Amino acid sequence: MKKIAILTSGGDAPGMNAAIRGVVRTGLYYGFEVYGVEKGYEGLIDGCIRPLTVKSVAGIIQHGGTMLKTARSEEFKTIAGQEKALHNLRARDIDVLIVIGGDGSMAGAQMLTQQGLSTMVIPATIDNDMNGTDYTIGFDTALNTVLDAVNKIRDTAESHQRVAIVEVMGRSAGHIALQAGLACGAEAILLPEEKFDIDKLCNGLKQSHRRGKLYSIVMVAEGVAKGYEIAEQIAEKTVFNPHVTVLGYIQRGGSPSAVDNIIGSRMGAKAVESIMLDEYNRLVSWQKGELLTIEYEQAFKREKGIDKSIYKLAAILAT
Ligand code: ADP
Ligand code: F6P
Repeated sequence: MKKIAILTSGGDAPGMNAAIRGVVRTGLYYGFEVYGVEKGYEGLIDGCIRPLTVKSVAGIIQHGGTMLKTARSEEFKTIAGQEKALHNLRARDIDVLIVIGGDGSMAGAQMLTQQGLSTMVIPATIDNDMNGTDYTIGFDTALNTVLDAVNKIRDTAESHQRVAIVEVMGRSAGHIALQAGLACGAEAILLPEEKFDIDKLCNGLKQSHRRGKLYSIVMVAEGVAKGYEIAEQIAEKTVFNPHVTVLGYIQRGGSPSAVDNIIGSRMGAKAVESIMLDEYNRLVSWQKGELLTIEYEQAFKREKGIDKSIYKLAAILAT
């Protein structure tokens, strides 16, 4: 009988609950004991570990966030913190820890693995910036949240004939800005991965205006600049007086999309199936529509930049 523990770590993401439910019910179905760790690595250090049952994960799939709560823990980055975590797992004879989180959480899991614990990682962050997988749970729901917000912003931008600056999350990556920018037909998309030129942006807005566009949407990834900074620069260089919307934490919430609940459920089950095959210390990875697992070392090597062809297409379609 193997004992599995599961935790969610780092930024929460819609669909995490589907992944939790996938792990718990698949694990129990195949005869494992399953334990939940509250509050990520912080809770692991504090020993916040409890058994989970089929009923524990009832009525959660439709909710964003994580039923296990999450945290960011500086203590866990220390050897002493990791030793406390390992002690709490070993004291309960837990064989495997499944971590649901982003690249930082995967780094944490790898540290535990280097100290002898078997782990698995399920990729979950709205940023979709994890090396080793084409998709991270939460990304699709976040895109739909941004699209819904921009569609609302369009109404007032059009009515007042103004430039609208929309600042989105993504930490140091531009995946949300790029894909949401294409989805909502933004006139300009500013990404950390692409050199930013304020004069080129302003000239583009002027050309759009001359061609009769009464308003424009400018999508700004937070890793480039604050939306208000961009607005100030545009106001200084043009006749436009942009308004700014910083979408912030609504991008992390909301009822998960079908995509996130489907992929979350499947990734949860995949993590358990990998354990059953005695294949540990691996990232559950979505690659070209296929679900597989890859070793952490391979994951970190599989660089993940933005899709330049999407960036070019978005520019063409915005003319
Ligand atoms: P995400 O997993 O969403 O990228 P973070 O980068 O904040 O979020 O990482 C979540 C947690 O993972 C951190 O608060 C810390 O406890 C742990 N962590 C991150 N990087 C490391 C590391 N290099 N070594 C050990 N633990 C880490
Ligand atoms: O990693 C997810 C994310 O939402 C990033 O897009 C954002 O920059 C960061 O978390 C915000 O971190 P915190 O939740 O600690 O404010």
